[in-house]
Amino acid sequence: MSIAVVSYSLTGNNERLASAVAEALSAEHIRIAEPKVRKMGAIILDMIFHRTPEVQPSPAVLEKYDSILLLGPVWMGQAASPLRAYLKHLKAAPQPFAFASVSGGALNANPKLMEDLEKRAGAKPMALIDLHIADLLPSDHKLTMKEISAYRLSSTEIAKLVGVIFDSVKGVLYR
Ligand SMILES: Cc1cc2nc3c(=O)[nH]c(=O)nc-3n(C[C@H](O)[C@H](O)[C@H](O)COP(=O)(O)O)c2cc1C
Repeated sequence: MSIAVVSYSLTGNNERLASAVAEALSAEHIRIAEPKVRKMGAIILDMIFHRTPEVQPSPAVLEKYDSILLLGPVWMGQAASPLRAYLKHLKAAPQPFAFASVSGGALNANPKLMEDLEKRAGAKPMALIDLHIADLLPSDHKLTMKEISAYRLSSTEIAKLVGVIFDSVKGVLYR
């Protein structure tokens, strides 16, 4: 049974989480890279115009594995655009997959995320775990996007979130 954790991260939170999840699952960790440094303008254009950016490695790498855990941030309610080529590949060549993220969660609980994943991958993920930075911070004031964006998970938080993801995916990815 071979599992790949395929992750994208802009500011490091999902990268660190993915690395620890891959270790917990004894899975291979594949990091998605882009040829150019990503700027905020490119994020907004990708999300508005549904662009699928060029990424490395080729999404065909998924075919080497029995099941896939995609892991990356949520941007504007959707899976971050560098994950799209992999979701598209899953649509063309279906495989069991789950999706996990540590996102901001400042405005809402990303209610359209499942719909976005299903539309792009052609099937619902077997598990969807959207963890929120807002739930890790004191709730005595309204969080700003600036605070959320500047937040970097501590090792203790990573360990806690890894446990949540592991418990949610182990039953569906090991079959
Ligand atoms: C342009 C942009 C849009 C974002 N939109 C959302 C959103 O819709 N929902 C959410 O929960 N978090 C949102 N976030 C917050 C990120 O998901 C959060 O900061 C995440 O931990 C970043 O992951 P990374 O460090 O792996 O890049 C957004 C961040 C950016 C930069």
